[in-house]
Amino acid sequence: MFEIEAFVAECEERLRETQPALAIKELVERAVAQPAEIDAALGTERHGGLRCLHRSPAMTVLQFVWPPGVKLFPHDHRMWAANGIYGGDEDNTFYRRTDQGLQAVGGKQLSAGDVALLGADVIHAVANPHGAYTAALHVYGGDYFATPRSQWDPTTLCEQPFDVEAVRQVLDEADRQARRTRS
Ligand SMILES: [Fe+2]
Repeated sequence: MFEIEAFVAECEERLRETQPALAIKELVERAVAQPAEIDAALGTERHGGLRCLHRSPAMTVLQFVWPPGVKLFPHDHRMWAANGIYGGDEDNTFYRRTDQGLQAVGGKQLSAGDVALLGADVIHAVANPHGAYTAALHVYGGDYFATPRSQWDPTTLCEQPFDVEAVRQVLDEADRQARRTRS
């Protein structure tokens, strides 16, 4: 059975290990292998959004629900991230900084059951390529909301301070679009 309090407690224990990111990735893998259990604990989400399940200076646990067709701008985290998918697919595009600005250097599609462990310097953009919602469980090795970091304008690729409200706006807009398409 998946319980958020128990999951957070286990993650906090593993934060004390020598390789906390790897140790916590294993926990996320175990969790996303049982999607029905997560749905039972968190409810089956039918709306896009991000929901904070735990937040401390050392760790943040988020549930992300990516609406159909959503495209989130490039951003970094400046902390490790274990991003697990438990429903649908998530397309990741990876970038690096160059003298000419941000440059795409590759991509990876994650499907239900996959967990991507991202290093603190990773820059990525995320998209949901399908017409169904994608559900994800993310654990970050720090305070996701309070750590200063960057996002990049999706058109100009200009670097800007990260703003979680901008993430919510992208999710909300894609959610509205999905509803309009459905109705
Ligand atoms: Fe991210």
